[in-house]
Amino acid sequence: MKISKKVQQMPPSGIREFFDLVIGMKDVISLGVGEPDFSTPWNICESSIFSIEKGYTSYTSNKGLYELRLGISRYLKHKHGISYDPEREILVTTGVSEGLDLALRAIINPGDKVLVPDPSYVSYYPVVFLAGGRPVFVKTKKTSFKLTPELIERHISEGVKAIMFNYPANPTGVSYSKRELIALSKVFIKHNLIVICDEIYGELTYDFKHTPLATLKDMKKQVLYFDGFSKAFAMTGWRVGFCCGPEEVISAMTKIHQYTMLCAPIMGQMAGMEALKSHTQGHVIEMKREYKRRRGFIVGRLNELGLSCPMPEGAFYVFPSIEKTGMDSVGFAKKLLKEEKVAVVPGTAFGSEGNGHIRISYASKMSDLKEAGLRMERFLVKYARG
Ligand SMILES: Cc1ncc(COP(=O)(O)O)c(C=O)c1O
Repeated sequence: MKISKKVQQMPPSGIREFFDLVIGMKDVISLGVGEPDFSTPWNICESSIFSIEKGYTSYTSNKGLYELRLGISRYLKHKHGISYDPEREILVTTGVSEGLDLALRAIINPGDKVLVPDPSYVSYYPVVFLAGGRPVFVKTKKTSFKLTPELIERHISEGVKAIMFNYPANPTGVSYSKRELIALSKVFIKHNLIVICDEIYGELTYDFKHTPLATLKDMKKQVLYFDGFSKAFAMTGWRVGFCCGPEEVISAMTKIHQYTMLCAPIMGQMAGMEALKSHTQGHVIEMKREYKRRRGFIVGRLNELGLSCPMPEGAFYVFPSIEKTGMDSVGFAKKLLKEEKVAVVPGTAFGSEGNGHIRISYASKMSDLKEAGLRMERFLVKYARG
């Protein structure tokens, strides 16, 4: 069968491609996949099991269960003081992944340009490309992997309609203070950019309070605010996330969603309702405390090994430089896997600016992080230069 030209042009995910190499290898420590090592808190699992027992196994409203949308609305109001109408301004999706795809398809006309930070999460470029948009890469290595107002200004040209924005960021762990966000918001407003704002790691911000972009002055009307349950609640497999935004965009996204997905799985939605209840917060805080402890360990260890690694503000990734080895990212990651059986992701999986870096996920057991540190030490004795 003939595959569409667009899909043929699209490279496979650099993460999956790399992790295919790991399959079948024994004794590998995987610090690769961006997935919590914790199980979903039991009260969440139990409430979903209970709802199945009660017969909740059907489709839901396309937009998602009203009770869940109401829960999301109340949660955001309570946590961040922002109001979204559960009837008109919230769509429950099959993870943030689906939501991002819907958003791009809802707003992009052929040839519209979308700013995509380099490096950034692996799906950003493909969703822009598949929606018919033209990705314009914004290289961030020289600004310590941060977007700045000047950097964005430099990439504005005729036809730029939107920007992909993610903080805390995958793969770098970089986040932004409120002051930095205010400075960025001025450029977004000046150029009337739609901000596809992926805040899925917002809860996992360690040293200051996460500020959703939409809460800033005059921002709500041009922000599509994405969050979900996968990361902070350790619920990757339940496939449930949400998007909040202006009614006209949510309604356009719902139109696509109703034909392509119908609704997010009801089991995941039921679980999401439980996750938002206040008594789940204790579990989230506990997981966050553990991630923070691991962050301190891994950053300290990598710097000790001579791999320069700044302290990331959030998510559960570090993005150290491997430049002193003289290897490129893919070469380093392949050799490390082959010789020491430690799996990390080459920085180039997230864009060309990621070269000279690797992504390590510390959503892995402390004992694995310690063992990986020893193996990397052995590896670097062989390959570190200077
Ligand atoms: C930045 C970012 N956005 C979205 C996702 C996907 O989230 P979900 O599981 O809600 O589809 C991930 C998963 O790794 C991610 O890192």
